[in-house]
Amino acid sequence: MSSLRFIARPGGKLTGRLRVPGDKSISHRSIMLGALAEGTTEVSGFLEGEDSLATLNAFRAMGVDIEGPVAGRVTIHGAGLHGLQPPAGALDLGNSGTSMRLLAGLLAAQPFDSVLTGDASLSKRPMRRVTQPLSQMGAQLETSEDGTPPIHIHGNARLKGIHYEMPVASAQVKSCLLLAGLYAEGETCVTEKAPTRDHTERMLAGFGYPVTRQGNRVCVKSGGSMHATTIDIPADISSAAFFLVGASIAAGSDLRLEHVGVNPTRIGVINILRAMGAEIELSNERDAGGEPVADIRVKAARLHGITIPEEQVPLAIDEFPALFIAAACAEGKTILTGAGELRVKESDRIQVMADGLQALGIEAQPTEDGMILQGGNLQGGRVHSHGDHRIAMAFAMAALRASGPIEIEDCDNVRTSFPGFLQAATQAGLTISADETG
Ligand code: S3P
Repeated sequence: MSSLRFIARPGGKLTGRLRVPGDKSISHRSIMLGALAEGTTEVSGFLEGEDSLATLNAFRAMGVDIEGPVAGRVTIHGAGLHGLQPPAGALDLGNSGTSMRLLAGLLAAQPFDSVLTGDASLSKRPMRRVTQPLSQMGAQLETSEDGTPPIHIHGNARLKGIHYEMPVASAQVKSCLLLAGLYAEGETCVTEKAPTRDHTERMLAGFGYPVTRQGNRVCVKSGGSMHATTIDIPADISSAAFFLVGASIAAGSDLRLEHVGVNPTRIGVINILRAMGAEIELSNERDAGGEPVADIRVKAARLHGITIPEEQVPLAIDEFPALFIAAACAEGKTILTGAGELRVKESDRIQVMADGLQALGIEAQPTEDGMILQGGNLQGGRVHSHGDHRIAMAFAMAALRASGPIEIEDCDNVRTSFPGFLQAATQAGLTISADETG
């Protein structure tokens, strides 16, 4: 099978204005909650990437009438909390862990059986983190023996609310249990050790569903209903992150990123880059349907290595591929700990980034739960993204500071989260092209 290879030429700077595509996490949730609401929900800024489209198609397969997306607009004719229909076959969620883990919670509570499958990467990812607490709630579901997909879900289970303390900081686990909790007897509460993205809680409230939050605990009760609303999805800070790093490391850069979601549970990348010396300014801060949004200006800066505070890790969990590139271009050592979750993302992001950085001449030592990285001079070379969208885009940015071209293998999955990445990167000032390899 052929696959896409990026070739990023060395040098350049990032300037001008850019609006990156819509937030992936919020896009998933807009479809899910819109489908469960009463009435018609209008969404704008929807991410037309493969992951959020996998969620959209899953709900269509369960009988929900959804129009679009057309230029980021989606109209969802809500089926109500009890209106989903049995899908005709397995729901294929492609590369999308969020689709699978959130749907597991929702489908565990439905009166019909379902099967959730995914691509080769998703089929290796751990699902016990959701199936185990769901079983405690009374759900009937099975994974393969090693706790990976497919997930077979038996309908008609009577769920009971639980109080769950999450062993890992995971917004997917939290959201999965809250969705199951909409149908469970009594109250379902999830406690998190460290704050994780809270889009589900915010959006449930936006649809008029009561959610209570107390400190690090969030609870829902069954028996409520959701009312259709309008959702304006901000640009994804996780996609903006590549440009925040690129502009920070490339001399002469001065870039504006527009209408970016700056939810406090997502801005670890800004906090960490600033601690490294980055020049990042937020302006025009406003609210878009319950989510904070801002324009971000980033200029080139001299970065220095830091020990990344562990409490920032869940707030920047998807941004480490990009942050490792910043660290490779910084003066001195950067140390990351407490980030073992990176090993179970779309790829093992610790190993894959360390391998790629080493291939480009950087001292990068992977550890069990992080990395020790010495800033240096990036050379050109060939790296492998292992089908991981964020690895591919991170290495594309590395070219801005490399002494030769960087070839990045296996970039097809960039379309899961950032359709139009090559055009956006080119518009901002990167010299990048793609070809098909056999
Ligand atoms: C997501 C939660 C995070 C993140 C993922 C999206 C979400 O995963 O890495 O890209 O939308 O809830 P975890 O919950 O596994 O940390």
